[in-house]
Amino acid sequence: MRPSLCISLLVVAIGHAVAPSQEQANPVVVHVDVAHPGAALSPQMFGVFFEDINFAADGGLYPELVKNRSFEFSEPLMGWHETLAVNAQGLVGPKGEMDVRGENPLNATNPHYLRVRAYELGYSFYNTGFRGMGVQSGAEYRFSAYVRSMGPKSIRATVTDAAGKVLASGKLEGFTGRWQRYETVLRAEATDDHAQLNLILDNKGEVDLDMVSLFPVDTWKGRPNGLRKDLVQLLYDMHPGFIRFPGGCIVEGRQLLTRYRWKTTVGDIAKRQTIINRWNDEFDQRPAPDYFQSFGLGFYEYFQLAEDIGARPLPILNCGMACQFNSSETARMEDLHEYIQDALDLIEFANGPVSTPWGKLRAEMGHPAPFQMEMLGVGNEQWGPRYVERYKLFAAALRAKHPEIKLVASAGPAPYGEPFNSMWTAWRELKPDIVDEHSYMSPEWFLSNTHRYDKYDRSGPKVFVGEYAAQTAGMARDDNRNNWRGAIAEAAYMTGLERNGDVVRMASYAPLMANVHAWQWTPDAIWFNNLRAYGTPNYYVQSVFANNAGTRLVPATPRAENGLYTSAAMDERTHELIVKAINTTADRMQTEIDLDGSGVSGTAKATVLESADLNAENSFEHPRAVTPQQESAEVHAGRLAVALAPYSLNVYRIPMQ
Ligand code: AHR
Repeated sequence: MRPSLCISLLVVAIGHAVAPSQEQANPVVVHVDVAHPGAALSPQMFGVFFEDINFAADGGLYPELVKNRSFEFSEPLMGWHETLAVNAQGLVGPKGEMDVRGENPLNATNPHYLRVRAYELGYSFYNTGFRGMGVQSGAEYRFSAYVRSMGPKSIRATVTDAAGKVLASGKLEGFTGRWQRYETVLRAEATDDHAQLNLILDNKGEVDLDMVSLFPVDTWKGRPNGLRKDLVQLLYDMHPGFIRFPGGCIVEGRQLLTRYRWKTTVGDIAKRQTIINRWNDEFDQRPAPDYFQSFGLGFYEYFQLAEDIGARPLPILNCGMACQFNSSETARMEDLHEYIQDALDLIEFANGPVSTPWGKLRAEMGHPAPFQMEMLGVGNEQWGPRYVERYKLFAAALRAKHPEIKLVASAGPAPYGEPFNSMWTAWRELKPDIVDEHSYMSPEWFLSNTHRYDKYDRSGPKVFVGEYAAQTAGMARDDNRNNWRGAIAEAAYMTGLERNGDVVRMASYAPLMANVHAWQWTPDAIWFNNLRAYGTPNYYVQSVFANNAGTRLVPATPRAENGLYTSAAMDERTHELIVKAINTTADRMQTEIDLDGSGVSGTAKATVLESADLNAENSFEHPRAVTPQQESAEVHAGRLAVALAPYSLNVYRIPMQ
């Protein structure tokens, strides 16, 4: 059955030159060659890339509410303030004093602590959190601290709003002269997104404090030191095939001294050494002097997160090179063994038996079973001969000891030109399993590059499109928007990734998360404040693709023509054909999906993500302005007639016999 048509099809795709309106005389026919399925698709095709940028970890996914809980920031009292009050002499001032000390610390990797001296009863000080603290009415928060007392026997804690109203309160007591951890649970009586934690001494005297924490009890899966529930939920809902962590340039550091070292991020959280976050002072226009890494979210928690959301873990390790956009500091070849040993030990930590030292630590932390790590990135966004030399040493050691681990190598910061070309020349010879390409480009670039992978060498390394995002204003610009214009261009591009699923094995949007009060980089897939989070249109594009990734390619034509982009795959587990059709034009597009020769009839499930407004965005006020809608469509004798809405991503899941 062919629907009768007399609508105008304005063949103007976003980013294409405006062409005159013309009648759509016949429906566009998409042929899907169901009789000739192609290559198996990667079960990890569409995943997520997590980096601690934009306060995505501390101040985000890691829901500690106290900033600088261990007094290890460069300004050791950052985040902490004394409460001024009228004292016994009638003067306005604090009733005591506090300073940061280092003698007899809690432990060697957490060498500073707070010394508090109360001259009068009621000495009080407070922490303002990461741009305020978010507390929910009725929710419980675990208040804890390591305390060593030279007198005072208790500390009161209150959570207050900006007007000073007490929202929650509790007390730690029974201190001794030795470091010991104390905790109590506070229940919030009201919701506030800019609360603060106040600590009050009801006795005179001195007391030492470290690891002062206010942490939601209700974390993802209720884990102590767990992750922020609403943010993990958004990841879980995507069903990502993999999670790449911990970055990003954070892996590299601005100097080698501040590179990411996974070993300092596991074990007792009180012993994890806080360091500066490399995004702290990266952008002059968006300074973040209070951006550090507590590593409360460390490699154990990343592996656990991967398991929780059903994603394969893809850790990326420093290869002996600091960020090449910053110091470009490089470890000497003769010192590289330490970095390589870190990689070997990481595999033991993730996968080794509990009888091994690192496997034992994993078990002690609560996970005796292996984490099933299968891939490892050697270096983040590196390039040049120094990288190649260092990669060779890593690869030799890793291949010899762990041939089962797939190695990921970088093609540099851009998807074309130099150093991209010379990196690919090197990789064709050295054969890492997967090459990581990064594309921060305009929406127009994404639309006109959907054929990019058609010509890739099928016998060379596979491709990981490890970081990509449409930059609606330009690379690293603050006025980039997470709007539908960028998102639909990414959707069109992703059909090209999927169609080339024999060579493109994985892809992830970047960056993943941003705190609205403290971001450095935009666009980002998920935005959050102290209490709430929402997915952008870009997030929903990722989600629709990841939730509808098939297991085997099916040829579909046309692939990219007149603003229509298509791809098809079979889901052999559910016996469904999945057809994706992206209409990037301003007009409704009558389309007939012809399942060549299949003769199948039935009801297809349709998922439609659309907006007539290319500037449409989601927000806290309208978190679902651009979100997928579930519909259905009838298939008759192998044909599905649909009208693709202007600017729409459409996915049809068609049951096959
Ligand atoms: O995603 C933001 C940054 O972009 C990453 O840290 C880096 O790998 C790339 O340059």
